[in-house]
Amino acid sequence: MVKVNTKLVSWEEIVEWSRGLAKIIKSSGYKPDVIIAVARGGYVPARLLCDFLMVENLLSIQSQHWTEAAKVAEKAVIKFQYSIDLNGAKALLVDDIVDTGESLMLAKEFIVRNWRPKELKIATLQWISPVAKIKPDYYFIEVKDWVWFQYPWTRLEDTCQFIRRMLTEEGKSKREWYLGEIIDKFREWYGIDVGMEYYKEAIELLIEEGLIVRSGDKYLVRV
Ligand code: ADE
Repeated sequence: MVKVNTKLVSWEEIVEWSRGLAKIIKSSGYKPDVIIAVARGGYVPARLLCDFLMVENLLSIQSQHWTEAAKVAEKAVIKFQYSIDLNGAKALLVDDIVDTGESLMLAKEFIVRNWRPKELKIATLQWISPVAKIKPDYYFIEVKDWVWFQYPWTRLEDTCQFIRRMLTEEGKSKREWYLGEIIDKFREWYGIDVGMEYYKEAIELLIEEGLIVRSGDKYLVRV
């Protein structure tokens, strides 16, 4: 039984979705002078939109809400609050997904108040409509049931967090794990398979972190 609804997103899908999003923006007639990527999730989609929309100017703003995969932090904050002048420019703020929408709302408010563009629109690849507090001006996919999207740029980070959560829980009743058992349990919990390289790298990081220790060909969960 899957415990966390998760969908693995491929690089091919990201390119396809970004291309589709660019077409929607283009057909609306909006021609941004500058694209602003929300760090870190908006970087790849923003860069692809620069390509598909032929936009040269790319900036970023770091607005963070989510500290760990699928886990909500207290509130969103803007890191590195630098000043720039976007007076007269039409801007497009880009992120991967609108989930609660809080980090995007904060980024938008900050930009409007401090960078003062002539116009600012929001584009995201995905929009989780039932939970989002804002609707982006442009989106490619409307998500009706909440899912954790495992994007290719957070593969290792998410795998670590997923295994950490799973072993912390399962480790209460089973302390010793073979690699194959960890992978099988991962598939059972999350319903996805991230591939051997990622499992191995994530486990190395969890050993460094002290959550597990290697013992021969087994791993012991430290409780
Ligand atoms: N970041 C915030 N919400 C997310 C989700 N549901 N999937 C992937 N990344 C996210």
